[in-house]
Amino acid sequence: MATINDNYLKLKAGYLFPEISRRVRVWSEDNPDAAPRLIRCGIGDVTEPLPLAAIEALKNATDELGERETFRGYGPEQGYEWLREAIAQHEYRDRGLFIDADEIFISDGSKCDTANILDIFGDNNTIAVSDPVYPVYVDTNVMAGHTGEADESGAYEGLIYLPCTRENGFVAPLPSQKVDLIYLCFPNNPTGAVATKEQLKTWVDYALQNDAIILFDAAYSDYIRDPELPRSIYEIEGARDCAIEFRSFSKSGGFTGVRCALTVVPQSLQGTSKTGQKVAIHPLWLRRSTTKFNGVSYPIQRAAEALYSPQGRAQVAELVEHYMENARILREAAQNAGLETFGGLHAPYIWVGAPDGLSSWDVFDLMLREANVVITPGSGFGSKGEGFFRISAFNSRENAVEVARRIGNVKW
Ligand code: MLT
Repeated sequence: MATINDNYLKLKAGYLFPEISRRVRVWSEDNPDAAPRLIRCGIGDVTEPLPLAAIEALKNATDELGERETFRGYGPEQGYEWLREAIAQHEYRDRGLFIDADEIFISDGSKCDTANILDIFGDNNTIAVSDPVYPVYVDTNVMAGHTGEADESGAYEGLIYLPCTRENGFVAPLPSQKVDLIYLCFPNNPTGAVATKEQLKTWVDYALQNDAIILFDAAYSDYIRDPELPRSIYEIEGARDCAIEFRSFSKSGGFTGVRCALTVVPQSLQGTSKTGQKVAIHPLWLRRSTTKFNGVSYPIQRAAEALYSPQGRAQVAELVEHYMENARILREAAQNAGLETFGGLHAPYIWVGAPDGLSSWDVFDLMLREANVVITPGSGFGSKGEGFFRISAFNSRENAVEVARRIGNVKW
């Protein structure tokens, strides 16, 4: 008898985005005349073509694979040295942060890495997540058996939820009890909030005092415009001893379909074994990577490297600027419609308060019905997301302008 992983039976409904797609499909079938007008501001998926520097690198690398002299088979599981060097230089050393190329692991996505990292941690950690939260952090812990059942609000027994509210600027407060693993995401998905250095310092100090590890998701770091705001957890003293950082080319280089990301595991980071010994985390993640992964394909790593060339950097900046201008247009449209907005200043997401009396899914239905626009209901990110919705700025300019116009026409 082949038994299954029963933890999967604890998962609530579908993963948020497939669930939204399902509802949109049903609506489109029921409204065939309106369906062609539909504009998606739900999932944060990029819309603009890849930077030219990446395209050229992809083509050249593919040509290399077509010649015996330059053909390559398996690459290093951790990623090619030249890409890790480029990242260490441009993302860290140029900003005065010491991260060695050896501490960088190239992967096919931050979603995968934030999930896979659980392989190297024990099953008895107390785990803290923000509420609202990127659902992957929660669901992967459910799958790994780190939680009990979900209650009516969708909160899983055993997880510590840190409420992120208007009052705290959607920056998670420290937990009142001791936790071992903490997921932080800044700029935040879904709220678009950013943390200051002082706020991150309180987390780093907490982690150091409690022997905890911070899983810092910085997938949207390129959207930070204020140089005073930290783009990396390693800007905080002591973070090398308590944090793993996840970065991605998805939202900066438009790589959601190309797939390339990175995880930084400092050599000095340690966890604790069952027998109470301090154990370095880096060799465990290296062991996991070399066993379960064969690396990202050569052309894609070359494309990622090209994003750090002078042309690549300028093209990435232009891409980010495009989405941030969309964010401005959408944020102002929501404000002009009398809605309360958050985020969207250093992040491609605008977090919007639902008008009084409307739930997140009510707004989803209203926007679908009246504006033919897909948004993401805040409650899909956790119980504290109820009463909010998220507008993604990942779109063409034409669509962003049109969505702004339609938001103004909705009878709120
Ligand atoms: C989102 O819309 O929250 C993101 O696109 C999800 C992701 O990056 O996996």
